[in-house]
Formats: sequence, structure tokens, C-alpha cells
Amino acid sequence: VEPPVQSPAPCLPSWDLAIRQSEWLRPARSRLLRTANLSRARNVLDLASGWGQIAVELAERSGATVVGVDCLAEAVEWSARRALEDKRGELSFLNADAHQLPLPDSSQDLIFIQCGMLWMRQPEQVIRECQRLLRPGGSLVMIEPDYGGMMESPEAIESKAIWVDALQAAGADPMIGRKLLSWCAVHGLVGTAYFFDRYQPPQSEYLRFLKELPLNESQLRELRRIDASITELPLDQITVHLPFWMLVARRV
Ligand SMILES: C[S@@+](CC[C@H](N)C(=O)[O-])C[C@H]1O[C@@H](n2cnc3c(N)ncnc32)[C@H](O)[C@@H]1O
Repeated sequence: VEPPVQSPAPCLPSWDLAIRQSEWLRPARSRLLRTANLSRARNVLDLASGWGQIAVELAERSGATVVGVDCLAEAVEWSARRALEDKRGELSFLNADAHQLPLPDSSQDLIFIQCGMLWMRQPEQVIRECQRLLRPGGSLVMIEPDYGGMMESPEAIESKAIWVDALQAAGADPMIGRKLLSWCAVHGLVGTAYFFDRYQPPQSEYLRFLKELPLNESQLRELRRIDASITELPLDQITVHLPFWMLVARRV
């Protein structure tokens, strides 16, 4: 299956960018999934599965039946075609809305979501839906950013304000990370939050997803200025830290 040429919506990065970001988060994801006992899971959901690369990883790392769920029909069809071509019978994809899923109560051992909660219209409802779908003892595993905590140096390369404004304008909640743990507690999921245990320098293309979002003229101008400042600096003179909230929340 040929890689998709372009993303059907701003909430989904282009295919190669999504793959790179997933690779960058892989060590943290592996640790979280071990904590959540992925290897013992029989039924697993990858919510907001996008191009499906994490659903493939979940299937490879477990003996589970894995379903990737996304509301973008184009991404779901592409993922399903690839799974069929790869003869992955344990993996399927469902075009559905995470707020209300056509799946039975207490049917899942593990629900995974990465960079999806920020795009949900009512993220607290999605957490309630996950609680309904999880078996007692099952886990919701989330990896979500919080752009409000973004740290950058020197000042000339600061992009946080553009990220926050552009994400909000596109319908996302850039500060989602900090809100998740308390919503889990309200809805019967006992969670622990983790962070990276050491600073990870940004990928050289860390501004590319921002450039894929709809931007106004002044944001574009500001970004061109930031790009110019970055190219003038040696890479080790640039610090960019975007905190990711990484949660494992168990249904009691
Ligand atoms: C930033 S992408 C993340 C994709 C994938 N998890 C990854 O890490 O590569 C966000 C995804 O959330 C999906 N999404 C947004 N709202 C949704 C909803 N209500 N139900 C299901 N999927 C949704 C989008 O279609 C998009 O594919």
C-alpha cells in the first residue's frame, strides 16, 4: 500500500511526520505499556488511531485482538487496507466517534490513546466512555502533550504562543495534559502520571506539524523569523521541551 499523499484534516499530521513522532515517543510508550500489562491483554483498543502505526505496534507486542478507532474515514480505510495486505487477522479498524463507541461494556483490557485527547470535542466524555468499555482491572493509557508547559531558549526561537493559538483555532485543547488525571479520578479510573526521565532534544523538524496547521499571515511571518533564528544557531544552543503527560489509569 502506497503511503498516503496528504492528511485529510489538520488534526492528523501527514503520514511520515506521524511515523517520526511515534518513533520519538516509542521508548516512553513501551515503558507505559509494560506498566499496563499489555502482554496479558486479550482485547486492546487504539483510540484516535490515525494512520494505524501504533495499532500495528500493539498487535506485534501482544497476542491481543487489536482494534484501531478513528473518526477520519480516509485514515481508517488506509490503515485497514494495509492490515489486510500484511495479513494481520488480529488487527482491524473501525470508523467511529470516540465519544460513543459501538462496543459492549467491560469488553476491553487496555485502551491506548496518543495525541488524540487534545482533539476530542468533549474529552471528559471520552474518558467516561473508556471507563464503560474497560473490564475491572483494565487500563486506559494516555500520552498527551501540554503546550502550556513548553520551555524554549533562547527567546528568539520561542514558538509556544503560536502553537497554543493555532491549536485552539484548529479545535484542539493545547493544555489537555494537565486535565486528564483529575477527570480519570472523577470517572472511576485510578491513575498515575509519568514524565520523560531525561531531557529529549527536539527532532530537527519539530516545527513541521505547526506549519501543517492553518496559520494566519502574522503567525506565518513570525514562524519565518523563528526559522531564520534557528538556522543561525548551532543545534546544541537550542533548547525546546514540550512536556508529555503519560498516564496509566486503572478501572477499579
Ligand atoms: C494527532 S492525531 C494522532 C494519531 C495517532 N494516535 C498518532 O499518534 O499518530 C489525532 C487523531 O485523533 C482523531 N480524532 C479526533 N477526534 C476524534 C473522535 N471524536 N473520535 C475518533 N477519533 C478522533 C483524528 O481523526 C486524528 O486521527
